[in-house]
Amino acid sequence: MYDFGPYEKTYKEFNWDLAKEFLEYKEGDPLNIGWYCSDRICQQGKAQKIAMIWEGFDGEVRKYSFNDLRLLSNTYAHYLKGLGIKPGDRVCIFMDKIPDLYISFLGILKLGAIAQPLFSAFGEEALFTRMDDADSIAVITTRKHFRKVRRIKDQLPHLKHIIVVDDENVRLEEREKVFILDKAERVEDFNIYPTNPESPSVLHYTSGTTGKPKGALHVHASIFAQSLSSKWVLDLKDEDIYWCTADPGWVTGTSYGIIGPWSLGITQVVYCGGFGSEKWYKLMEKFRVSVWYTAPTAIRMLMKDGTDLVKQHDLSALRYMCSVGEPLNPEAVHWGIEAFDMPFYDTYWQTETGAIVITNFPGMKVKPGSMGRAFPGITAVVLDLKSYEVIREPNKVGLIALKPGWPSMMREYWNNPTVYQSKFINGWYITGDRSSIDSEGYFWFVGRDDDVINTAGHLVGPFEIESALIEHEAVAEAAAVGKPDPVNMEVVKAFVALKPGFEGSSDLELSIMNFIRKKLSPLAMPQEIEFVDKLPKTRSGKIMRRLLRAMEWGEEIGDTSTLEDD
Ligand code: PRX
Repeated sequence: MYDFGPYEKTYKEFNWDLAKEFLEYKEGDPLNIGWYCSDRICQQGKAQKIAMIWEGFDGEVRKYSFNDLRLLSNTYAHYLKGLGIKPGDRVCIFMDKIPDLYISFLGILKLGAIAQPLFSAFGEEALFTRMDDADSIAVITTRKHFRKVRRIKDQLPHLKHIIVVDDENVRLEEREKVFILDKAERVEDFNIYPTNPESPSVLHYTSGTTGKPKGALHVHASIFAQSLSSKWVLDLKDEDIYWCTADPGWVTGTSYGIIGPWSLGITQVVYCGGFGSEKWYKLMEKFRVSVWYTAPTAIRMLMKDGTDLVKQHDLSALRYMCSVGEPLNPEAVHWGIEAFDMPFYDTYWQTETGAIVITNFPGMKVKPGSMGRAFPGITAVVLDLKSYEVIREPNKVGLIALKPGWPSMMREYWNNPTVYQSKFINGWYITGDRSSIDSEGYFWFVGRDDDVINTAGHLVGPFEIESALIEHEAVAEAAAVGKPDPVNMEVVKAFVALKPGFEGSSDLELSIMNFIRKKLSPLAMPQEIEFVDKLPKTRSGKIMRRLLRAMEWGEEIGDTSTLEDD
């Protein structure tokens, strides 16, 4: 048996009540993430401790204490309540990583409403799909982004409030209003809504193979898992300066860019300046970042700029680095050691799991290329691809499956019980990923089991792209797959069969690209369109994306017995 060092005891004795004790939560008490991340930290005597060091794209720096977080999130909650927003209502946050994003998130939760973060790069179609599905009642946004909402608001009858938070001078139309936090009177006491562990908290949309994106609904109890994993996996300690590079439009940015660190009273850096190797190292040097949580695509881009650039900066405060979202190549782990004198610790989880479920822990032997072991309290196995029986022998590839019951597991897909149910087989939650497990319990990621494309750590559903493509007048059928890319791991490639009378050409490719650009978010845009006579299909008529993908990756095509005859 593998010696799990300091975690061995934890593994044996762990149950989730320990996580509740950790937050001093007593059964039957209200539980509100907004309160835990601000008021409680103030009560612990850290009111004046810095919660957020924010830097904007133009270099402006602002600092907020936990007391500021408490008062300002109260102020947001009070304002939203005044608009008539009620517990359980969905309130979207649609903006770049400005302080209002983080503060309004806590305010929405204090009100008992559901925070629905939307990635600021979303185009109108992506926005519409998510706001329409959730019947969102309000959206908090900025001058830069609100026009996208304005253009779709007539199709969103449930949307009552479009709130612009950074410009008093916008000319307002119906349903639009302005709220400037700096000018609002700070609210000392807000009657925080007494949510309980099972009250809904956050709604994050994620892509699947078929149909529209699905809204994974989380509850306030998620904080038990997010807080404990922030301590044990991210190794956050009181004196740390922590930087999570993820955007709260995605789950990493809320679970570990807001809830986890602030539930522990940790100071975090929020950087709204985009990617740039030099910019990032300067930021880490300037604020003396000690713990850093980032993603493989970013690491690969940093690697391209070399080790010398790292060494030109004083990163002596940095003591721990983690990664999430895509497979972390062994080269990236080795490069981490070369450039920063420490490895990147890989962590694995999903929007649906709400918190880290398979991971490397501090002090644990890192095997480059492995995602590590199950988090305490998580039963993780691989299932046979056909029989769904648990595979007991080491090193055999199967489906990663988890025993439901940890606190941060999604409670439903919004409005979609059928797809939610389809994720559970024989009492296991099926992640949709393939992996093997070695004799020491380490997971080795193989790939996705479905057709979802992971580009730069963002999941893109082929259905969304194909739906946009076939709306073009020349397109008869379309298939979208991931093709290999040295930096983003995968980029989207589309295969298109044309309607009679249309000829594939670079002009037509451009016309199709321009057409779909308005519908898709930049992440989902194909890098290339290949025109084909027809698409490979199963006998039942399903497009065989697997085959197209295998061709792109130069892999064995595998079993084609279900392919239609010529
Ligand atoms: O395919 C796995 C991949 O990202 C998926 C989850 O994506 P999302 O719901 O957007 O959440 C991303 C951040 C938690 C997984 O099903 N993935 C995540 N972490 C890893 C990974 N693939 C390989 N290695 C990882 N460490």
